[in-house]
Amino acid sequence: MAIIAPSLLAADFLRLEEICKMLNESEADWFHLDVMDGRFVPNISYGIPVIEHIRKATKKTCDVHLMIEEPGSLVEAFKKAGADIISVHIEACPNLHRNIQQIKALGCKAGVAVNPHTPISMLDDILADVDVVNLMSVNPGFGGQTFIAHTLEKIRILRKKIDALKLPVLIEIDGGVTLENAKSIVEAGAHVLVAGNTVFKSKDPKKTIAQLKKLK
Ligand code: DX5
Ligand code: ZN
Repeated sequence: MAIIAPSLLAADFLRLEEICKMLNESEADWFHLDVMDGRFVPNISYGIPVIEHIRKATKKTCDVHLMIEEPGSLVEAFKKAGADIISVHIEACPNLHRNIQQIKALGCKAGVAVNPHTPISMLDDILADVDVVNLMSVNPGFGGQTFIAHTLEKIRILRKKIDALKLPVLIEIDGGVTLENAKSIVEAGAHVLVAGNTVFKSKDPKKTIAQLKKLK
C-alpha cells in the first residue's frame, strides 16, 4: 500500500484548521507542504509561520518540499517549524551532500527532489545518504499540471537501483497524480503518492484519499 501525502497547496487556506482535522481523520499518511520562493520556481506559496500552525494541528508526518534556492540557510528554521522530512532540490544544491547531512543532523529525514529533466543517474552518489527521493512528475511551481508520462520509466530504473542496493529509500511521486494514473505509478515502483488537486478539488477528499490508499 502506498504512502499517501496530500499536498496542501491545493487546499482552501481560509479553512486550514478544518482541513488539517479532515486529514487527521483520513487515511492520509503525510502532510505534503510545498514551499516556493519565486526564484527557484516561478511562484511563491507559503512558508515557516504557516507550517508552524499546521504542525500544531497534526501529529502526522510533515513532509516539507523546499522549492527554494540556497535551502541550507533555512533548513534549521523549517525543522523548528515542525518538519519531519525536508527535501531539497538537487538543481538548487551545489553542495547537496552537505545539505543532506545538515538535515539529518537536525533530526529530520532527508529527501532529494529532482526535476523532470534531471537524469536519475545524478542520484548515484547520494542515494545511500537519503531517506526519500522526490521524483517530480511535473515542472515544480504549480499544482494541477498533467503528469509527465516519462516519469514512469524513471521510477522503474530508480526502484531497480534501490532494490539492488537494498537501500531503505522511498520513491515519492509529486505532480499530476490522479485516481486514473496512481495504480500505474505504484506498479512502476513508487512508495509515496503526493496528490494536491486530486484530493482537494474532489467532492469528498476523505473518500478520494481512501481510494488512493486502496489502489494496491
Ligand atoms: C508542485 C508541487 C506539488 C503540487 C502537486 O510544484 O511540488 O506538490 O502541489 O499538485 P498536484 O497534485 O495538483 O499536481
Ligand atoms: Zn511538492
